[in-house]
Amino acid sequence: MDRLDKTRLPRHIAIIMDGNGRWARKHSLGRIAGHRKGTESVRSVVEACRRIGIPFLTLYAFSSENRSRPEKEVEALMGLLERYLKSELETMTKNNIRLLAIGETAALPSGVKAVLDETIAKTAGNTAMTLTLALNYGGHDEILHAVRRIVDDARRGIIESRDVTEQRFEDYLHTKGIPDPDLLIRTSGEYRVSNFLLWQMAYTEFYFTETLWPDFREEHLVEAILEYQKRERRFGLTSDQVHKKRS
Ligand code: IPE
Ligand code: IPE
Ligand code: MG
Repeated sequence: MDRLDKTRLPRHIAIIMDGNGRWARKHSLGRIAGHRKGTESVRSVVEACRRIGIPFLTLYAFSSENRSRPEKEVEALMGLLERYLKSELETMTKNNIRLLAIGETAALPSGVKAVLDETIAKTAGNTAMTLTLALNYGGHDEILHAVRRIVDDARRGIIESRDVTEQRFEDYLHTKGIPDPDLLIRTSGEYRVSNFLLWQMAYTEFYFTETLWPDFREEHLVEAILEYQKRERRFGLTSDQVHKKRS
């Protein structure tokens, strides 16, 4: 943690928490045991980001495609999520963390939806860090949802096609108000985005690690941030232009 350049921290880290199933298999356990172990990593990473001073952390917990997994696994994941939310409210309050959710959360089981809404409401005034959980989330879903709402608003005369700028479009996304991720971390040695934050990742730096999610801890997070700090983000400009801008 001390090795980090505090003046160049990512403002927003997004994580694809992958590899719970493989971790379980490696330890001769069932997949659900892997998910349970994964929640320990969630706790550890949330705490570490808060301590390091990362203002936005977004965790991909359940994709729209994950809904098609075996019913038993989906039920177990929902149960773990409910338990996690109930157990973390106190810590979030103590650590001044605000919770948000992106994705089709209305389709979550009613018990989970209720605790989620309650936790979001109870932490709404917290200001040190925003933790966003992507639940029933799909990048395609999110973009289509935005397009549908824009079409509806256009029909009602609220918006015209020439008003649909990048900025206005972003107001229709679930991530309204959240800056784009600076750093994306994906665990478990998979090199793909799996329908995560497609619009928002236009200029995100990607970091891939072989570490399976249940083994991921603060030291791995620090490694990822150190690697991020070595990168030069050019946003389409030349290196010279970037240097001039900085100085
Ligand atoms: C990530 O671990 C958790 C979710 C997608 C919910 P996986 O369950 O995808 O683990 P692997 O990829 O099978 O190892
Ligand atoms: C991505 O992991 C979704 C989450 C981590 C929640 P998956 O395990 O579902 O992704 P694929 O199927 O390997 O691309
Ligand atoms: Mg996976």
